[in-house]
Amino acid sequence: MVLITLCLSTTLQAKEYDYDPDNGKEINELCSGCHGEFGQGGKDGEYPRLAAQPIEFTMNQLRLFRDRKRKNFAMVEYIDDRQMPENDIYDISRYLYEIKLKTQLPPIDENAPDFDAYARLLESKMTMQIPKAPGDIERGKKLYNKECDSCHGKEGLGDHKKAVPMLSGQYTNYLWKQVEQLRTLERIHDEDSPKEELLNEFSDEDLTDIFAYLSIVDD
Ligand code: HEC
Ligand code: HEC
Repeated sequence: MVLITLCLSTTLQAKEYDYDPDNGKEINELCSGCHGEFGQGGKDGEYPRLAAQPIEFTMNQLRLFRDRKRKNFAMVEYIDDRQMPENDIYDISRYLYEIKLKTQLPPIDENAPDFDAYARLLESKMTMQIPKAPGDIERGKKLYNKECDSCHGKEGLGDHKKAVPMLSGQYTNYLWKQVEQLRTLERIHDEDSPKEELLNEFSDEDLTDIFAYLSIVDD
C-alpha cells in the first residue's frame, strides 16, 4: 500500500497512465535476458541494474534509446520491435521500480524440513550487494554530499521528479562506463545546461572516492 501511494505521487507525467502490471511483467521477459529476471543486471555491470530506478529516469532512457538519442546497440532491436508506445514505457518502468532487491541474503539451515532450494535460488537472484570499491570512503562521502546529493539524493537513490538515476546499488563498472559517456557529452548529464560537463570538474581520483562511498551505502 505504501508503495502504491509513493508511485502515484511521483510526477504529473506518470499520473497520466493507467498502470498495467501484467503488461509490465510481459515486457520484462524481453529485458530479462540481459538485465535479469528481477532487473538485477548482469555480467558485472555490462548490463546495468534496473530494479528500483526512479520511474521517470527509466522512462527517459527508454525514450532516448527509442529515438536513437542514446546509443545502445545491444538494445536496438528490442526497442524497435515493440515500437514502445508511451504506455508500455510507463508499465515496464514502474514494474521495474517496484522490484525491491535485498542487500543481504538471510542465513539458512539447509537441513530444515521446509528448506526449498528453488525459493532459495530466487531469493539469491533478488539479493544484490555491490562489492566494496577501492578508494577513500570518507573523502568520497564529503564530495558526494557536497556535489552530487542535491540531484542524486541523500543515499544515492535517485529522484523521480528530476528523473535522476540511483547510483548506490549500481555496479561500479557500469558507473565508470557512463562517466566516459557523460564526459564526452555522448550523454547529457544535466538537461538544463547541456553544454556544461559537470563530471569534467572531477578528477578520476575524486570519482574513485565517490564510487567507493556509494558502494558501501547499501551495506
Ligand atoms: C540484448 C541485451 C539487452 C536487452 C534485451 C535489453 N537491454 Fe537494456 N541495456 C543493455 C545494455 C548493454 C545497456 C547499457 C548501455 C550502456 O552501456 O550505455 C542497457 C541499458 C539500459 C538502460 C539504462 C540504464 C542506466 O542506468 O543507464 C535502461 C533503462 C534499460 N537498458 C532498459 C531496458 C528495458 C526496459 C529492456 C526491455 C524492454 C531492455 N533494457 C532490454 C542491454 C539490453
Ligand atoms: C544537476 C543535477 C545533477 C548533479 C549535481 C549530478 N548529477 Fe549525475 N545525473 C543527473 C541526471 C539527470 C542523470 C541522468 C542523465 C540522463 O538522463 O541520461 C545523471 C546521471 C549520472 C550517471 C549515470 C548513471 C546511470 O545509471 O546511467 C552518473 C555515473 C552520475 N550521474 C554521476 C554523478 C556524480 C558522481 C555527481 C557528483 C560529482 C553527479 N552525478 C551530480 C543529474 C545530476
